[in-house]
Amino acid sequence: MRDTVTITDNRTGKTVEVPIDEGAIRATGLKELGLSSYDPAFLNTASVTSRITYIDGDAGILRYRGYPIEQLAEESTYLETAYLLIHGELPTQDELYGWTHEITHHTFLHENLKELMHGFRYDAHPMGMLVSAVAALSTFYPEASLVDDEATRMAQVVRLIAKVPTIAAFSYRHSRGLPYVYPDNELGFTENFLSMMFRIAEPRYRAEPELIRALDVLFILHADHEQNCSANVMRSIGSSKADPYSALAGAAAALYGPLHGGANEAVLKMLAEIGDVKRIPEFIARVKAGEGRLMGFGHRVYKNYDPRAKIIKQTADAVFEITGRNRLLDIALELEKIALEDEYFVTRKLYPNVDFYSGIIYQALGLPIAMFPVMFAIPRTAGWLAQWLEGVTDPEQKIARPRQVYVGAAERDYVGLGYRRTPGARSLATA
Ligand code: ACO
Repeated sequence: MRDTVTITDNRTGKTVEVPIDEGAIRATGLKELGLSSYDPAFLNTASVTSRITYIDGDAGILRYRGYPIEQLAEESTYLETAYLLIHGELPTQDELYGWTHEITHHTFLHENLKELMHGFRYDAHPMGMLVSAVAALSTFYPEASLVDDEATRMAQVVRLIAKVPTIAAFSYRHSRGLPYVYPDNELGFTENFLSMMFRIAEPRYRAEPELIRALDVLFILHADHEQNCSANVMRSIGSSKADPYSALAGAAAALYGPLHGGANEAVLKMLAEIGDVKRIPEFIARVKAGEGRLMGFGHRVYKNYDPRAKIIKQTADAVFEITGRNRLLDIALELEKIALEDEYFVTRKLYPNVDFYSGIIYQALGLPIAMFPVMFAIPRTAGWLAQWLEGVTDPEQKIARPRQVYVGAAERDYVGLGYRRTPGARSLATA
């Protein structure tokens, strides 16, 4: 038995034998037949080999560098998980100490970046501010363009993981008209973020340990998700050897969309629109009639319960014990129950994804809806950077440049302005 696939062009009888490697065949194998593969939205096309994140969507499995997400959510911290994603191995105690120290000491922003953020309109969307501020960071670190230099790459990795939470918190403070709160180096990564968000006049902001842990778990769950839309953008921009700030701004822009990181925002809007458990059947009927989607349900890869959604549900319980129950949770729980029994959702394998419950937790933590995609971008920074590092150091990669299937007009001659007419109308020239 050979590990190959034989493809025959039935028009010509010509045959090619293409090797199978790791369950994939190379699309370039089709070149010999003068063919290319057409795969809008990459439904069945791998564009990279990767050692970072493994997903088995049918079995509901997610692992970072081989470690099950359930174990990381239970035992690890976000910063340790970020180290794992970037370096490929869990850190030793010394390595974790050094990494934490490095990140903690790069959280401050240049004052001019702060001024730049200050220049946004009072009601600017924090995600728009984050995308712009991250892009602007490249102008503060011009050496970041040396993407072939390992030490330079790692310096930007540390800066980005450290500074994105500061930018995120400043964007929130701006939208509230509150003074920006500078990082507090005595606090851990997640507690420092909460301090920059919520500190008012107290000498030191201290959040409830359970809330810090809950947010840290959410950060772990959102840290990477292999070749999703924004990771693909990160790698694609990175493939042109642009600096990582520019690439990460592009990735964050991709995350902004309601079909990706904006989904948790859309979930809350949907739950508020439903407003009452009694109105769920009517809402489900509308979704089934094609009048909108059940936001927070469905996933390109998971055709089973998203393992992150399971953990988030438990995290929600821990948060609500402290903050009190959010009435939208009752609507979400009932919505999930009804949808999971409904033939429309069952046959399409539509299950809750990570965004179904995360928004309710963010709201319980006192965050406005507009901050939700920003909350996603903070931890995903580690994943984007791991993907970027893997991409720019992969000798098989080149500048990303897909082919197209051209279906437009054949060659035709230019027509002068006065001689053009819309079908059925008289041309100006003959009028
Ligand atoms: N509600 C209702 N129907 C849905 C939903 C949904 N949330 N998701 C998919 N479907 C239906 C489609 O209408 C389609 O039905 P059809 O076969 O009768 O035409 C079928 O299920 C397949 O859907 P596709 O759009 O082909 O699935 P795709 O893999 O392209 O989309 C996506 C995945 C974008 C996540 C989609 O499920 C969706 O829009 N979900 C809601 C938005 C959301 O929650 N996004 C967050 C994703 S997770 C993340 O980014 C972190």
